[in-house]
Amino acid sequence: MATPSNARLVVLVSGSGTNLQALLDACGDPEYGARVVAVGADRDGIEALARADRAGLPTFVRKLSQFSSREQWDRALADSVAAFDPDLVVLAGFMKLVGPDFLARLEGRVVNTHPALSPSFPGTTGPADALAYGVKVTGATLFVVDSGVDTGPVVAQCVVTVEDDDDVDTLHERIKVAERRMLVDAVGRMAREGFTITDRKVRFG
Ligand code: GRF
Repeated sequence: MATPSNARLVVLVSGSGTNLQALLDACGDPEYGARVVAVGADRDGIEALARADRAGLPTFVRKLSQFSSREQWDRALADSVAAFDPDLVVLAGFMKLVGPDFLARLEGRVVNTHPALSPSFPGTTGPADALAYGVKVTGATLFVVDSGVDTGPVVAQCVVTVEDDDDVDTLHERIKVAERRMLVDAVGRMAREGFTITDRKVRFG
C-alpha cells in the first residue's frame, strides 16, 4: 500500500486509550507522516474518548446494543470509519471483532495491536493466558486484520520479560509500555514508506 505523505488515521478504541495517546503525541511531529482524523469507539464514557476530545478530534460511538444485529452494527461502524476516508485504520485496544462488511470495505488498511506474541495467546486475555502458561517472555504484536481472531499478517512484534512476581496487571502494564513504542514506530513507517504483503510477509516500502 502506498500511503500519502500525511496519512489519515482513524483510531478505534474501547478503554483507557494510552495507545491512542502515544499516536496523538507522535502525530504532533510533522515529520511523523500521519495524523489522526477521527476516533471511534464501541462504548461511551471511556478515557480514550476523553483523550480524543481534548485533542479536538471528531469522535463517534457505535454500540452493538444500538443495532438489531451484529451485521448492522458492523455496517454502521464501517460507514462511520469510511466517512473519514482513512489511509489506515488502527484498532488500538478496540475490544470487538470487526466483521465481513467492515473488512470488505477496508481490508488491507486495518491494523490491530494485541498484547501477546502471535500466534500464541490470541483473544482478549493474552497477558493472563501467557502468565498462566508460565512463559518467560511475551510481548505485543501489530498485525493486519483479517477475518480470524488475531491471525493476520504480522507487521511488528516486541518482546517483554515475564518476572517471577508478575500478576496480570503488572505484566500487562509492562507489555503496554513496549506496545506503545512498537505501535508508534510501525504505524509511522507504514505511513511514511507504505507496505506490501506477500505470502503473509509484511514489508515496509
Ligand atoms: C492494549 O494492551 C491492547 O493491546 C489491548 O488492550 C490494551 C489497550 O490499552 N487489547 P489502551 O486502551 O490503549 O490503554
